[in-house]
Amino acid sequence: MLVAHLTNHLPEPTLIHWHGLRVPSMMDGTACVQTLVRPGERFEYRFTLPDAGTFWYHSHHNETVQMERGLYGAIVVAGPDEPVFDRERVLVLDDLKLDRKGRIAKTALFDRHSGREGEITLVNGRSMPELEIAAGHVERWRLVNAASARYLRLSLGGRPFRIIGGDGGLRDAPLTVTETLLTPGERVELAVGPFDDEGAVIAVDSLPYRRTKMRWPRRTSWATLRVGARAASRTDLPSRLAVIEPLLPPGPIVPTRVVSLGARLTLHGHDWLVNGETHHHDAPVKVGELQVWEIVNETGMDHPFHLHGFFFQVVAEDGFPTTPRSFEDTVNVRGRKRMTIAFRPDDRPGKWMYHCHILEHHAAGMMGHFEVVR
Ligand code: C2O
Ligand code: CU
Repeated sequence: MLVAHLTNHLPEPTLIHWHGLRVPSMMDGTACVQTLVRPGERFEYRFTLPDAGTFWYHSHHNETVQMERGLYGAIVVAGPDEPVFDRERVLVLDDLKLDRKGRIAKTALFDRHSGREGEITLVNGRSMPELEIAAGHVERWRLVNAASARYLRLSLGGRPFRIIGGDGGLRDAPLTVTETLLTPGERVELAVGPFDDEGAVIAVDSLPYRRTKMRWPRRTSWATLRVGARAASRTDLPSRLAVIEPLLPPGPIVPTRVVSLGARLTLHGHDWLVNGETHHHDAPVKVGELQVWEIVNETGMDHPFHLHGFFFQVVAEDGFPTTPRSFEDTVNVRGRKRMTIAFRPDDRPGKWMYHCHILEHHAAGMMGHFEVVR
């Protein structure tokens, strides 16, 4: 059971959303399920934690300002039987856009269109930290992308590392890669190391990723990782981490719903749409009934699609069936592409939502409400 007391000392209302935690609808922290917590007021969140994994919480009101200013944090829920590592780190990544006087810049019209990116990168609130890992050690890194809009194509100086988990906890088996894409809202868990070259300094960078034609991407530095003196390792990383039962039977995939992401030019720049409207009201779904949603991106820009309250499996990418290896709550939908997701709502009826996790797009309408009914 987690009990969190929110006391609002801000001059404006706020709410806390528990991103990725399977809480009851009433505890989801959106304006659909509770009244805004006004300045000076208190609210108590109270729920059990059914899943192990890396989650986060953040303001769910005036996010483009409140989250840019840092109203978020990570939550790690440990399972009964976790793999053993030499060390664990939680790394919350964000970027900050400052004005010429070094204050947090006001949201510009361009931000509403492309999403706000800033030139200052932050790891747990600090700029360019130097991390150290002992040679021979393997560490578990839990990463959260808390940025408003920045995509992180993470690289550790080109060296291989293993992905061991996603939004919904451990994946089926470790996957060795040299980079991984982390969109706003997403989490990834990595096994980093072992490295042999004592004294080496490894760049923790994000590689250029072109999520919109309006922005020319660059390589960006986040931190450095120094390989320290050798130490004995006690890491025990099994080759099977979790059992991910496919939600869909083999065979053709028939979507039960299409969620189409679009845009419309208006006098104040852009509206971002779901099925042709801002703040779309979508049809209810039934507890226990398998959902197969096709998320269609009609725009030329990527959008990280986030579903509140329920983990899904990605079952097809642009129409090609995939084998689900993990559970997710956020998935990138590339420009002009489509992703098909499947989930089975468990017995938590009430009001839920989904939206693009680029905060400016969510604010400009790219979201949908739906109800889970018994
Ligand atoms: Cu982190 Cu409504 O989302
Ligand atoms: Cu978007």
